[in-house]
Amino acid sequence: MSIDVRPAQDFDRFLATDQLVWFGEETDSDAEHVRLGLPEDQRFAADLPDGPTDTHSGVYGVRPMEMSLPGGRVVPIAGLTWVGVHPDCRRRGVLTAMMTDHLARTHDAGLAVSALHASEAAIYGRYGYGNAVLTLQVELGRGTTFTAPHLEDDAARTTTHLVTMSGPGVTERMRACQLGSAPDHPGTIVGSPDYFSLMALEAPEQLRDKERRRVLLARRDGRDVGFVGLRREHKWSKARPSGTVTVGTLCGDPAARLALARRVVDLDLMGTTRLENLGVDDPVLDWVGGPRGTGSLETWDSTWVRLVDLAHAWSLRTYEDDCDVVVELADRFAPWNAGRWRLACSGGTGTATRTDSPADLSLDVDVLGAGYLGRGIGSRLRAGLVQEHRPGAYAELARAMRTLVAPEPSIGF
Ligand SMILES: CC(C)(COP(=O)(O)OP(=O)(O)OC[C@H]1O[C@@H](n2cnc3c(N)ncnc32)[C@H](O)[C@@H]1OP(=O)(O)O)[C@@H](O)C(=O)NCCC(=O)NCCS
Repeated sequence: MSIDVRPAQDFDRFLATDQLVWFGEETDSDAEHVRLGLPEDQRFAADLPDGPTDTHSGVYGVRPMEMSLPGGRVVPIAGLTWVGVHPDCRRRGVLTAMMTDHLARTHDAGLAVSALHASEAAIYGRYGYGNAVLTLQVELGRGTTFTAPHLEDDAARTTTHLVTMSGPGVTERMRACQLGSAPDHPGTIVGSPDYFSLMALEAPEQLRDKERRRVLLARRDGRDVGFVGLRREHKWSKARPSGTVTVGTLCGDPAARLALARRVVDLDLMGTTRLENLGVDDPVLDWVGGPRGTGSLETWDSTWVRLVDLAHAWSLRTYEDDCDVVVELADRFAPWNAGRWRLACSGGTGTATRTDSPADLSLDVDVLGAGYLGRGIGSRLRAGLVQEHRPGAYAELARAMRTLVAPEPSIGF
């Protein structure tokens, strides 16, 4: 069946599809969300021959974003988002047609990587995305103590200031902080200025009884060194204040994060602080003495990464160990990647070249996406997800790709 995928021309139809798929309350600000969320030329629509005419059969969009890689390079990526298929059209190949279109367009645009947050874990592996980053949600009680003796001097010189995200200049300062800390925190994804404006856009009907998004900015020596977004919720229990403050990504250098973390566990009228987006090696866990120093800890998948152009992507990051392996790569949706590659890393630098030598390993491209930001992928051999033809070859590859500290989760996009 032919499915027509093309740039979306009809804004109302695109919006109607989105509203149907995501079934929230329809508000006047929905259109503004699409406008700020997706550049006009990055909205795409798919139609089945017998599909609906008031909506599309499916839509997707791409956010231009930047991502930091092991070694510190910050590179442009395609941030896949707004993916939705009309409920009457599901399981007829619309998503597959849109993904094929997206990967071809991304490749043509010269981008090496596509990344996303998945609504469900089972959807994107088949298209070559690997789960590259895990996130932790950690609850801490009021007044939790953080121990970090070698950060105290810098933390003492750091001040924190509560502002409103939609206030003048705030999102620009947040974005500058994120770009500044990204090289030291591989996996950080930085959105465009419009993406930050979108985060700050909160129509009255979306707020209802919520407070506006606030931001704590950290400053040292006269400049911004970090931030965290937060929102407080009132709760009273047996006449005692026991609200919850929900905290987004902590951003900044280690001492800034420490100062911010201390401030968010010491807000008046709050009983619990929920940190929603920590990396699995986040220092918060060390500062509280491990998982049992928290009130609760849960984990799930954050960023999924897809190597759209293997050779280009391989050369962009650095590696912490040497390797020299020949990989038979399966890639159904980006056939230009498929086939035999020699993946070599030496002195931190990686090169991927075509070869006819016998393969040491056979694997799917999602495995390389999963390890691209430094998350350990060594267990996949035991899990039976890769095939090794030369003993030790997979360990060599996995060691080279892994980083000392697990990658940073990204803010949902
Ligand atoms: C998820 C969604 C986009 C899938 O679209 P679709 O057009 O039905 O997908 P396709 O028909 O192209 O399916 C391709 C394959 O993925 C599988 N698949 C699709 N959605 C899946 C899901 N949620 N869980 C498991 N498998 C799924 C299909 O079974 C099919 O498998 P096959 O190739 O082995 O036959 C669609 O169900 C949807 O819009 N859901 C609500 C919004 C959403 O979750 N969007 C994703 C945002 S990240």
